[in-house]
Amino acid sequence: MKKALIVLLTLLVASAMAFANGSSEQGSAAKGGHIKIGLSFSDFETPRWPVEDALMTKLAYAKGIQVISQVANHDVKLQNDQIENMITQGVQVLIIVAEDGSAAASAVNDAAAAGIKTIAYDRLIKSDKLAAYLSFDNVAVGEAQAKGVLAVVNHGNFVLLGGSPTDNNAKLFRQGQMDVLQPLIDNGQIKVVADQWVPNWSGTQAESIMENILTANNNQIDAVVSSNDDTALGALQALKAQGLAGKVPLSGQDATAAGCNSIVKGELTMTVFKDVRLLSPLAIDTAIKLANNEPIDGLQNISLALLTGDKSAQGTVPCKFLPIVSVNKDNVYDVVVKSGFQPYDDVYRDIPDSQRPPRPAGM
Ligand code: GAL
Repeated sequence: MKKALIVLLTLLVASAMAFANGSSEQGSAAKGGHIKIGLSFSDFETPRWPVEDALMTKLAYAKGIQVISQVANHDVKLQNDQIENMITQGVQVLIIVAEDGSAAASAVNDAAAAGIKTIAYDRLIKSDKLAAYLSFDNVAVGEAQAKGVLAVVNHGNFVLLGGSPTDNNAKLFRQGQMDVLQPLIDNGQIKVVADQWVPNWSGTQAESIMENILTANNNQIDAVVSSNDDTALGALQALKAQGLAGKVPLSGQDATAAGCNSIVKGELTMTVFKDVRLLSPLAIDTAIKLANNEPIDGLQNISLALLTGDKSAQGTVPCKFLPIVSVNKDNVYDVVVKSGFQPYDDVYRDIPDSQRPPRPAGM
């Protein structure tokens, strides 16, 4: 009897400890035993990353998976050190939002050599040792940005404000933008008067870049094709200072609360909605399968040469790209607010009640 009690107590303590460790006996995760995932973020300056960190951590905990999450504050070396540290802490799978898609390749290769699988989350890492690259249709994002601006102004002096030059997505957005703009540049309808990349996707840097462009061009700017909401809103500050807010169309991306608020105020022309509420679960499900050595459906092998535009890049990467939605004043309410992606009160901040659409039920 005493022995049975000791056995029972031991079992209870063991299961309590397992639970405290974020492990549970439920879900497919239990199959592979004790799964530990490392989440590595470039920064938390872009509003989407802390949201996705919380989403993925919550989903992982719910499946009894341990998570180590770290943020590199745009520091390329720090990010690689943090990843190495996760490897020594025994993660089976890494999910990485890379600050620099080239620099992070060495961390991915080291992880692979140690038998650890890596998912490049949203941004490509230039390594054919990746287990998966999960993102959105980034070329379609760029196309939507150019088309959104052209719907307002289709001729004159255009500014191209790209994202971080170390982020492969920035290049893919530009590729999509040029697919749409190039014919109009070729026929002389559009003149690109400035073409710049914004380090770290920084809104502050975008603002000063835009100030210089306005000065250099005597404020004769007809449109700005900018690559995300943060940089667009930075550029908008510079336009505002010259009385040009709402007069010069500009594009964004991410459907941030601030970006959508700017759209309803008639300043930002458009943004791109990427439903990260689908990308985060996809990454966690994929990570669990990778940890359990289960097959992953729906991935397509694409060459790094095609993904990077660099013909010398070797190898292929298993990819999946989720669809995107172009958002402007006409559909922001349906796509962003009603779907619960951004709060009604944030999107309609400073808008008088009489000019707001009805508050969706339960918000
Ligand atoms: C890109 C990402 C965008 C945007 C940007 C700034 O890689 O695809 O959604 O957030 O980074 O962080």
